[in-house]
Amino acid sequence: MAENLQISEGADKAQTYEEIIPQIKSLVEGEENLVANLSNIAAVLDMAFHHLWTGFYLKDSSKPQLVLGPFQGPVACTRIFLEPVARGVCGAAAVAQKTQLVPDVEKFSGHIACSSDSKSEIVVPLVADGETKLVLDIDSAVLNTFDETDQIYCEKIIQIIKDQHFRKT
Ligand code: SME
Repeated sequence: MAENLQISEGADKAQTYEEIIPQIKSLVEGEENLVANLSNIAAVLDMAFHHLWTGFYLKDSSKPQLVLGPFQGPVACTRIFLEPVARGVCGAAAVAQKTQLVPDVEKFSGHIACSSDSKSEIVVPLVADGETKLVLDIDSAVLNTFDETDQIYCEKIIQIIKDQHFRKT
């Protein structure tokens, strides 16, 4: 439960992820509703790291678009188009089906600036049955915030969501 969330002060990034991942797992395993679980994951990541924006975009089931999902942070763009060209870092991750690590968003062609405070970004897609189902997007107000450590652990978080909600039955 959220009130029991344990996040140590002063731990480094990898230690913080190591601490929150089992807690994310136990929050998610007990709940079958995707929106509820994405909401809590956004909250845990925000409580742990306090980045500018932490949240999810979900693939619209009937359109080639991503639509805003649960998040923590400032108001964000509601829809991200995937066609005729994939828009932004989220669109690139969704179409390439690969994590995008962007040290400087101004150097990423097509970046969507929902906030002019955003300087660097990581976007991790969840791919199941060959289709992108959603992306985890984290924006930082500081350049070069995200690295392979974030990629490894954010991909583990995506795997937890996949195991709970997109598992083959
Ligand atoms: N910057 C993202 C758009 C989403 S927000 O920043 C919350 C992108 O380029 O895809």
